[in-house]
Amino acid sequence: MKIVMVTGASSGIGAEFVRQLDQSFSRIDEIWMIARNAKKMEEIAATLQNKARIIGLDLEKKEQRKELEILLETESPEICMLVNCAGFGLMGDFEQLDIEEQLNMVELNCKALTAVTYMAIPYMVRNGRMIQLASAAAFVPQAHFTVYAATKSYVLSFSRALQEELIPKEIFVTAVCPGPVDTPFFDRAETNGHTLALKKHFTVSPEQVVRDALIASKRRKTVAVCSFPMKLFRILCKVVPHSWILEIVENYDKG
Ligand SMILES: NC(=O)c1ccc[n+]([C@@H]2O[C@H](COP(=O)([O-])OP(=O)(O)OC[C@H]3O[C@@H](n4cnc5c(N)ncnc54)[C@H](OP(=O)(O)O)[C@@H]3O)[C@@H](O)[C@H]2O)c1
Repeated sequence: MKIVMVTGASSGIGAEFVRQLDQSFSRIDEIWMIARNAKKMEEIAATLQNKARIIGLDLEKKEQRKELEILLETESPEICMLVNCAGFGLMGDFEQLDIEEQLNMVELNCKALTAVTYMAIPYMVRNGRMIQLASAAAFVPQAHFTVYAATKSYVLSFSRALQEELIPKEIFVTAVCPGPVDTPFFDRAETNGHTLALKKHFTVSPEQVVRDALIASKRRKTVAVCSFPMKLFRILCKVVPHSWILEIVENYDKG
């Protein structure tokens, strides 16, 4: 059975990946959609041309990740593409945000992504592709988005190194690094903080992010930076000392 597997498939970028992959993969047997909200995934699945398998799991929970591992062992599918999109962010000061919620963010954005990647590799086909949702927040530390930016730096670093290891298996990994994307992400992220006003000017649609990511993945690019302003931002983060960027952003935010 040939499949594509998408985590975070119930909303935003993950749901858009499901829709665009449904259009571009005609010779697969199933799209595996993973997230907690099964009802939302069923609504999306009803609009697809491929058969979808709805897998309602809380990936923050180790025992529920185990259920996915068992499902993979039972079905032994051939995975043509894995997209790791499940993730969330929290804005606000580290010491004022709830510690358990911040640890859950590390659990989902880093540990679950790593675990799902690990369990998928044995089933990936030659020329199979992996897409890992990092963020432009991975390029430089971000005060008031402290833990989130750190989790995304992890995803970027992990994906780039993993690509080197997977070359002999002909599996290709792309870390996707968009700036702000117009999705429900901010409903939760902004509960205790706010997005920099400047950042809002660079918001792009999930359709554009997914289109760019799939082109980059097809071209076997290790890093996909969506939109021209974020490409400039990445260059800036390579040449300007990070302490300067942190200070400038902090002053801009206060002013
Ligand atoms: N939006 C942005 O500005 C932006 C920018 C750069 C990177 N990103 C990254 O892109 C990815 C997708 O974000 P989005 O913008 O599409 O946000 P979103 O619309 O809020 O989608 C997040 C997805 O993650 C799933 N999820 C959350 N907690 C989960 C859990 N415990 N177990 C399983 N699934 C869970 C959600 O499904 P359920 O609630 O149904 O579980 C949902 O499908 C994230 O990794 C995010 O960090 C977003």
